[in-house]
Amino acid sequence: MSRLVIVSNRIPGKTPAAGGLAVALKKTLAARDGFWFGWSGAFAETPQKQAKFETVDGLRIGSVDLTRADHQGYYAGFSNSILWPAFHLRLDLTDIQSHWYEGYRRVNAQFADALVPHLRPDDIIWVHDYHLIPLATELRRRKVGNRIGFYLHIPFPTPDALSAIPNHEDLLKDLVAYDLVGFQAQRDLAAFNEFGVHEEMYRAAGGTPFHLETGDTVFEAFPIGSDPEAFARLATSPNAQKMYRKVERAMNGRGVILGVDRLDYSKGLPQRIAAYEKLLENNASLRRAVHMIQIAPPSRDTIREYQVISDELDSAVGRVTGRFAEPDWLPITYVKRTYSQSSLAGLYRLARVGLVTPLRDGMNLVAHEYIAAQNPENPGVLVLSRFAGAAEIFHEALIVNPFDADETAEAMRRAVIMPLEERKERWHSLMDTARAYSVDNWADSFLAALAGDAPSSGDTAGG
Ligand code: G6P
Repeated sequence: MSRLVIVSNRIPGKTPAAGGLAVALKKTLAARDGFWFGWSGAFAETPQKQAKFETVDGLRIGSVDLTRADHQGYYAGFSNSILWPAFHLRLDLTDIQSHWYEGYRRVNAQFADALVPHLRPDDIIWVHDYHLIPLATELRRRKVGNRIGFYLHIPFPTPDALSAIPNHEDLLKDLVAYDLVGFQAQRDLAAFNEFGVHEEMYRAAGGTPFHLETGDTVFEAFPIGSDPEAFARLATSPNAQKMYRKVERAMNGRGVILGVDRLDYSKGLPQRIAAYEKLLENNASLRRAVHMIQIAPPSRDTIREYQVISDELDSAVGRVTGRFAEPDWLPITYVKRTYSQSSLAGLYRLARVGLVTPLRDGMNLVAHEYIAAQNPENPGVLVLSRFAGAAEIFHEALIVNPFDADETAEAMRRAVIMPLEERKERWHSLMDTARAYSVDNWADSFLAALAGDAPSSGDTAGG
């Protein structure tokens, strides 16, 4: 079997932990030899073109340091102040500074320089996420003829949002330097194909369209998943049970409504708090019977928009507390901190309602993990945004429009009072789906398609 080389901005073992995906890919990597490559997490005075290698938990990891200026342009700038908001359809939150694009391309070129000496001709190269769209172009420039695949973990933007990104034509051409481009959901594949249609309409209106020659590149949706069996075991591990019991005692029979999200504006957190407020407003009888726990580890906090969302959430939580709290009951616990996967698994198992209500999300693995963590004899209910990739597969969740507070509040109410039989029925179907879409199946099918030894569904893109 060919060696596998995985490339992503973050590498396993560095903070923040790369989570379930890292665990899953580590398994795949161990089975295929090879190495993982990315940013070391450290800074250098001058650009480093030579990778450093180390072995962590039996895994070979290569990395480069970045200069602070390059990291600013590449990560905080182009990746997270332009691509991230635009791909999540938040053009209002983009901060377009043209020099960032240079940093973005420079770091991709630097990654290519550092990688090339360590590649063997039959290595399979798998590049992850929006930080590294130009990497295949840079590798091809350096005469790398290997099979190279790209997986986008976040949604693909609609044509209008894509057009608002500086240099988007170059980024589209960069995608065509890959042999295989994988998206999370059919929605993303459709959005990609739609760009060609959009440009044709532009031509019909007398404009000069951009035409993308997709050549042999295959574009396809490969919805990512979790390791549901392992996560189910984790949810009954000693550490998970400790958390479960501690919170169960504190809740004293109240139904827990739980959200766990990176503190990011794409996650719809203020909207979720507003929906919970509606639930309490419209259902006086539920006021002392439920308790919302929102865990939101801070993220990308050097970027202004992340400070803004953090303040907004502080104020939303304060508003609901001030309005509904009583001396012996608080409506909500809001925690801005990271917890171990096992503690979270215990909380998921305890929660009567799992709230996964992003405004837009690639897949959302919390949805998968919440399902996997449930007690089959007394499962909780998943309330899921229609704008998460997960909504394409988890049809038995209560699907909501997260912009509609009344609708979301009503789904929360249904979830809280749902009879056991209905909860079990829904959960069994959801768990079957989580198993079918396991992360192992995801990695196997992507890599089989990349190696060219599996018939792909032939979803090649036009335009
Ligand atoms: C999303 C992205 C990942 C990223 C993660 C954490 O899931 O798709 O590529 O690693 O967020 O964000 P951060 O900026 O801390 O790496």
